Amino acid sequence: MTGVAGFVGSHLAERLLSENYYVVGVDNFFSGHRENLASLLGHPDFTLHERSISEAGLLRDLKTEHPDLESCFHLAAIVSVPYSVDHPHATMEVNHQATLHLLHEAERLDFRVFVFAGSAAEYGDDQRLPLKEEYATEKTRHLSAYGRSKYLASREVATSPCGIALRFFNIYGPRQDPSSPYSGVITRFVSMALSRKPLTIFGDGLQTRDFIYVSDVVAAYLCAAKLCRNSSGTGKRLYNVGTGRSTRILELAESINNLAVNQEKPAFCPERPGDIRFSAGSVDAFLRATEWQPRVSLREGLRNTIEWARGGSKKK
Ligand code: UD1
Repeated sequence: MTGVAGFVGSHLAERLLSENYYVVGVDNFFSGHRENLASLLGHPDFTLHERSISEAGLLRDLKTEHPDLESCFHLAAIVSVPYSVDHPHATMEVNHQATLHLLHEAERLDFRVFVFAGSAAEYGDDQRLPLKEEYATEKTRHLSAYGRSKYLASREVATSPCGIALRFFNIYGPRQDPSSPYSGVITRFVSMALSRKPLTIFGDGLQTRDFIYVSDVVAAYLCAAKLCRNSSGTGKRLYNVGTGRSTRILELAESINNLAVNQEKPAFCPERPGDIRFSAGSVDAFLRATEWQPRVSLREGLRNTIEWARGGSKKK
């Protein structure tokens, strides 16, 4: 697995180990955190390789060391959208070119599974909601190098004999880094609410997002791998992963303030430039293709995230 020290990667690795898989983790710690590996390091079925996905021959080396390796969960990426705007070339290199190299190596090494982390950003500012997989095309106006790079990579992965691409909507949960100004809105709001500060709402707060909890994302990875293993290598394997439900930012702020018992009224700030207004994905295709179901309600997911942020459940 690449990106094992990231927010989602560390949760996925824990789940795989709990199901008795051997996990070969790769991370270069550009945005991953060693603390996320606390429960993994020292596990007899886990090895960590501090390497970059841009290094030629990465999968070949790993396969030499671990001959049973036959699945690759590829999560490593430049994950910050603003960073991608400032560094478009580096973003294309890591998120697109390095992904293609890895994919082609996986094909040559007869890997059975290559699951790629795509993004709702692949739809640009398309407002035909709910977004269906086929809406992202060559003509899509991507708002960042991040969106463009993920689109190009997903497209290739989806047609590979061992590949499957998942387009995630807004993922949240314990371990999403709250210290960055580019953190997801839930992580930011939880941190502000626990510090008894007003939550900052960009614009009127009527914009919507489809929030999906990290354990549902992990479950989606496992279902995707199974689908890949059990289906023949023809056709396109590309799916949205979200809840299919939209939540207004204003309602989100109210829920978090209630759960965290923060009395401060939200502060309305200018709209964020480049923000999309509404976002919701159709998850019908993935529901039809697998037995996956999103199971964690927003309320439950917010409770867990708040508990983690309070420091009460560091292991989550
Ligand atoms: C998210 C992803 C981005 C991806 C995009 C695809 C994160 C951090 N970003 O962006 O990588 O390209 O989906 O659609 O996961 N907001 C506030 N106050 C705040 C912070 C945010 O009101 O303090 C609002 C934003 O203006 C936005 C909404 O909350 O309307 C969600 O923001 P954010 O969590 O940053 O995610 P996206 O913009 O959807």
